[in-house]
Amino acid sequence: MNDFDALVRRQRAHRSFASDEVDDATIDAIIASATFAPSAENSQPWVFVVVRDRTRRDGIGDLMAAAWAQAREYSRARLTESLFADVDAGLSSGTIAAAPVLIVVAVDRHLVHPGAVGSSAFPAVQNLLLAATARGLGSALTTIATTQTSELRALLDLDAHYDPVAVIPIGHPAHPLAPARRRPPHVVRR
Ligand SMILES: Cc1cc2nc3c(=O)[nH]c(=O)nc-3n(C[C@H](O)[C@H](O)[C@H](O)COP(=O)(O)O)c2cc1C
Repeated sequence: MNDFDALVRRQRAHRSFASDEVDDATIDAIIASATFAPSAENSQPWVFVVVRDRTRRDGIGDLMAAAWAQAREYSRARLTESLFADVDAGLSSGTIAAAPVLIVVAVDRHLVHPGAVGSSAFPAVQNLLLAATARGLGSALTTIATTQTSELRALLDLDAHYDPVAVIPIGHPAHPLAPARRRPPHVVRR
């Protein structure tokens, strides 16, 4: 297996982190890789809000917990038991927001067609996850806090034309994760 294929398979959703810091040069390199993603009309509508400040991370953690409290019972039946337990711990107990760095990805609606907001942001998010994984860091794509749009904007001092689309915790994994479970190619290929 080549390095890229191995990296893609290693990338998993980490929801608990050691307290060790991640330096700014590393975060800048990860964001640089994110910016090489495709976007509609090469609009590059993203901004990456790097949140280290404890008060703001706690605020984001509170938004996650509030949104999860509403979704929790609906999600329980839809997730495997172990995934539910992991997500529940990450959102209810705040282990996701306790990562040393949260990167909130937001889209500037002035820069992109309304129909292409998500499709022009998530390729960059995926690059970001892979760039973190390549450096031995844990990360996760989370969106639940973005349902609290105006509260999140207010917390981050973002103007109303910025739509937060993802909150990505980054840090050293608290523990290694087992290999990802995925439907195999022979099942998904048509
Ligand atoms: C659109 C999207 C939204 C997600 N939102 C959350 C979230 O709010 N909280 C969370 O803990 N995980 C979230 N996840 C992570 C998924 O649970 C995770 O990608 C999936 O379970 C596969 O995990 P694995 O790569 O570790 O196997 C989200 C993933 C996607 C693609």
